[in-house]
Amino acid sequence: MDSTNILVSINASKKIAILTLNRPKELNALSYDFLNEIFQALDLLDKNEGVNCIILTGSDRAFAAGADIKALAQQSPLGIWKMDMYGLWQNLKQIKKPLIAAVSGFALGGGCELAMICDMIIAAENAQFGQPEIKLGIMPGAGGTQRLPRLVGKLKAMELVLTGTFISATEAYRIGMVNKVVPNEMLIFEAEKTATLIASQSTTAVQMAKESILKSFDMGLNEGLAFERRNYMMCFDTEEQKEKMNAFLEK
Ligand code: HXC
Repeated sequence: MDSTNILVSINASKKIAILTLNRPKELNALSYDFLNEIFQALDLLDKNEGVNCIILTGSDRAFAAGADIKALAQQSPLGIWKMDMYGLWQNLKQIKKPLIAAVSGFALGGGCELAMICDMIIAAENAQFGQPEIKLGIMPGAGGTQRLPRLVGKLKAMELVLTGTFISATEAYRIGMVNKVVPNEMLIFEAEKTATLIASQSTTAVQMAKESILKSFDMGLNEGLAFERRNYMMCFDTEEQKEKMNAFLEK
């Protein structure tokens, strides 16, 4: 499954996988091909029954410094449309298993958007987040104007997107953009700890819960509650529900 740009390691006993972005020279800049490789690797892990939770990480220096500006500089509106990069971002949204972004260094532009597509974000102390597209004469194009305000509210999202300023991990934590901040050397350990806890739960219940929470961003309350009820009921069709409830009752 490994390519030079992406390293995948699976811990079979914990049922977790770590996908490491490995284009260090370009600070993991997200070219179309690289993003496609990331999606293909995630899709394989999503279909792998030996994996229940996936960690997405980069290098110490960069989670990802955004879309590849060298490629972007040559683009035209029609070129962007034909390339269907948006389709790739939509595909990333379809991954059923929980994704934890373990962010060290820069998470900028498309890199910040990639982290926000994940279900949780754990940041190293040296992490820096930002949507600097405005400084390139463009704006976020992969969810930055939609997911960021849902995480941090309108005012902070406006500030980040309209000024292009970077924020530290501590500030990102303070405004609700990341789950926790940990020392750099503890990043993978902490991400693995959370991933292992998630991976030890009922696979169906976890995936149903993830799907339901994501639906809360797309649906009104009544529609969302109906969706939740449907997924809740599905959990009663699993062995894990029977085993776990009986185990509780039998002490
Ligand atoms: C291509 C990039 C890059 C990028 C860095 N590099 N970011 N290449 N695309 N996004 C390359 C640099 O050209 C350089 O290559 C090498 O990585 C190291 O970068 P430096 O600038 O020398 O490092 P440093 O001084 O430490 O600054 C790091 C940095 C800066 C703050 C991250 O590189 C930077 O501002 N990068 C651009 C960040 C950005 O604007 N991102 C948003 C892109 S637009 P060489 O060959 O010189 O060593 C976007 C839109 C998404 O993401 C839309 C999605 C659909």
